[in-house]
Amino acid sequence: MLFTQVIFTSLLAALTQTGLTSAAPVESRDVYSPPVLYPRAGIVWYSGQRHNVTWDNSNPPKSISNRAFILLRSGNYETPVVLAHDFDLRAGRVEVTVPDVITGNFSVVLFGDSGNWSEDFTIEGVITD
Ligand SMILES: *[C@@H]1O[C@H](CO)[C@@H](O)[C@H](O)[C@H]1NC(C)=O
Ligand SMILES: *[C@@H]1O[C@H](CO)[C@@H](O)[C@H](O)[C@H]1NC(C)=O
Ligand SMILES: *[C@@H]1O[C@H](CO)[C@@H](O)[C@H](O)[C@H]1NC(C)=O
Repeated sequence: MLFTQVIFTSLLAALTQTGLTSAAPVESRDVYSPPVLYPRAGIVWYSGQRHNVTWDNSNPPKSISNRAFILLRSGNYETPVVLAHDFDLRAGRVEVTVPDVITGNFSVVLFGDSGNWSEDFTIEGVITD
């Protein structure tokens, strides 16, 4: 997560230098990392299924600075598996396809300005060990 924040920060710095962010003044940006509501503990997904990841969108800031994406997380590690990207953080949901994994417990991380992850849930994968 720290690594990603570093990337965001450098990206932001680069954009600011090139003047691309002139339409969105720094002072209007808020940190926005809404809590993920679904999937949650006790849920079982199967590889290949489609599901809506949902999050609490009740308090969106006026301006959302960074693009949104969702990563699969395993234990305390964020995997590089992108489940969804470039969707509207204000929507409160986005459809994802459950990737092919080894059966296990996972969570999903919703990235706005920083990451906020779901509870651990289970994916019945294409391989069970
Ligand atoms: C992440 O979600 C929790 C609630 O699950 C909330 O308390 C916390 O403020 C959120 N983190 C950030 C960085 O917004
Ligand atoms: C996701 O939510 C939308 C809106 O409620 C719904 O139309 C769609 O069928 C849902 N997708 C899945 C896979 O459940
Ligand atoms: C997933 O977590 C549940 C509940 O903690 C546990 O019973 C189960 O053994 C775990 N499954 C795997 C594949 O690690």
